[in-house]
Amino acid sequence: MKPRPSLDLAGTAEFLKSGACKSVYVLTGAGASTGAGIPDFRSPGGMYDSLRPELITATEAQRKRMRMDPVNVVMKDMFFQNQFPYLEVRRPFILGTQQQQWKATLTHWFMRFLEEEGLLKRLFTQNIDGLDYQTGISPELVTNVHGSLARVSCEGCGYEMPFDDFCAQVRTNVKDIYRTDPTAPAESSNINCPRCNAPLVKPNTVLFGGSLPSAFFEQLDDLNGADLLIVAGTSLVVSPANSVVMYVAKDCLRLIVNKEPVGQDLGIRYGKDATRDVWAGEVSCDEAFLDLIKMLGWQDKVRKIKHLL
Ligand code: APR
Ligand code: ZN
Repeated sequence: MKPRPSLDLAGTAEFLKSGACKSVYVLTGAGASTGAGIPDFRSPGGMYDSLRPELITATEAQRKRMRMDPVNVVMKDMFFQNQFPYLEVRRPFILGTQQQQWKATLTHWFMRFLEEEGLLKRLFTQNIDGLDYQTGISPELVTNVHGSLARVSCEGCGYEMPFDDFCAQVRTNVKDIYRTDPTAPAESSNINCPRCNAPLVKPNTVLFGGSLPSAFFEQLDDLNGADLLIVAGTSLVVSPANSVVMYVAKDCLRLIVNKEPVGQDLGIRYGKDATRDVWAGEVSCDEAFLDLIKMLGWQDKVRKIKHLL
């Protein structure tokens, strides 16, 4: 019988060090990368906040029929095919990624430290920024649930476009709706596929309505063997990524590292109702994982990467 850790960060650290915790699974979201300067989606000031109504060019009728939250329409696959402003909305993020503007945060590094200790079984990330890979984490341990920016292809014929070629076209052909780039074109033109000429070239990211990588569904069953699930920086509102929290066994400890409590509709219980859920509190991901690192005695690991943070 696994020792019953106290339902707080210290108890989680004790459990991690006890030897009884052998398999850790992680689910991260945009809150893991805000420390790198990449806005999340739903927080005040996040990406969806910047989507002023005039950006959402989908017809009112389509929106009403789809009963979709207007901002999510931006990420809807079928609207992309009508040249919905997906590329305009993601322009700064795409070009910032090419310029390697974003650096892995302590949160990304903590997952690498778990791998170094032989504890990490899988990292499911909803993020497309690729920051996890800057830590040297084994790619086979990472599942990019919503795809990633790393590869760009035509939604029509599958033609793969080199990322730098794609960025060159984004820079010259896609309007800067945030008005931060004076060299940006006044109007957007399509990025046409050099092979089939369809205006459907985009990063291999999963839009609403698109299908997640099949590996994700195969890996869900492995979660039954988790001793600890860490959920970091996600509102847990997007399915099926959020279903990860329900695939762990009933006695699996779940550590939620998020500025506010999330996942109550998925059965996560906080405070006096908690039986196996731990909330790190109203702290940032990086603060929470730094506290954990100190409790685990992993400071040397941080000293080695200080220059990279
Ligand atoms: N520390 C802790 N929590 C944070 C931090 C931080 N530094 N920054 C943000 N958060 C929290 C926010 O309070 C919020 O609860 O992280 C959560 C981020 O939630 P979302 O913005 O909804 O991002 P995410 O959960 O990743 O979105 C899921 O939605 O639009 C789609 O495909 C997109 O993958 C994305 C999916
Ligand atoms: Zn094509």
